[in-house]
Amino acid sequence: MIQVAPSILSADFGNLACDIEEICKGGCDMVHIDVMDGHFVPNLTIGPVIVSAIAKAATKPLDIHLMVENNTFFVELFAPFKPEYISFHIEEEKHPHRLIQKIRSYGIKPAIVLNPNSTPEELEYILADLDMVLLMSVNPGFGGQCFIDSVISKVKRLDVMRQRLNPKCLIEVDGGVNDKNIQSLKDAGVDVVVAGSYIFKHQNRAQAIKSLQL
Ligand code: DX5
Ligand code: ZN
Repeated sequence: MIQVAPSILSADFGNLACDIEEICKGGCDMVHIDVMDGHFVPNLTIGPVIVSAIAKAATKPLDIHLMVENNTFFVELFAPFKPEYISFHIEEEKHPHRLIQKIRSYGIKPAIVLNPNSTPEELEYILADLDMVLLMSVNPGFGGQCFIDSVISKVKRLDVMRQRLNPKCLIEVDGGVNDKNIQSLKDAGVDVVVAGSYIFKHQNRAQAIKSLQL
C-alpha cells in the first residue's frame, strides 16, 4: 500500500499542533516537513524551534525534506529530533556520499531528492547507499502547484534501476499529488507520496489520506 506523508506546509501554522494531531489520528504514515532557506528556493519556512514543536505533536515518523544550500549545517540542526528520513537535493550537494554517511551515523535514513529536470541516471553510483529517492513533481519552493506529468516516466525508469541496484530503496513523489494522479503513480512504482494542499484543503482530511493509500 502507498504510504502518505502530508506536507505541513499547507497546514494552519496558527494551529499547527491541532493540524498535526488530526493528520496523525487520520491515518497518515509520516509527517513531511519542508525546510526552505530562502537561497536554494525562493521561500523561507521553518527552523528547529518549529520542528521541535512538530516532533512533540506528531505520533508518526518525521520525513524532513531539505531545500537548502548548506545541507550539512541543516542535517546537524535537525538530527536531534530523530526523523525517520532526511532528504537533500542532489543539485545542491558536492559530496552526496559523505552526507549520506553523516545522516546514517545519526541513525536516520538518508534520501536524495531530484528536481523535475534531474535524471535518475545521476544516481547510478549512489542508489545502493540510499533508503529512499524523492522525485519532485513540482518545482520546489511552494505548495499548491500543478503536478508535472513527466515524473511518471521518471518513476518507471527509477523503478527499473532500483531493481538492479537496490530493490529495498523506496520511491517517494512530492508535489501536486491528489486523487486524480495517485493511480498512475501507483502503477509506475511509487511507494510514498507527499501531499499538502490536497489533504489540508479537503473537508475530511482522514478521507483524503485514505484516498491516496492505494
Ligand atoms: C514543495 C514541497 C512540497 C509541497 C507539496 O517544495 O516540497 O512538499 O508542500 O504541496 P502540494 O501537495 O500542495 O503540492
Ligand atoms: Zn517536500
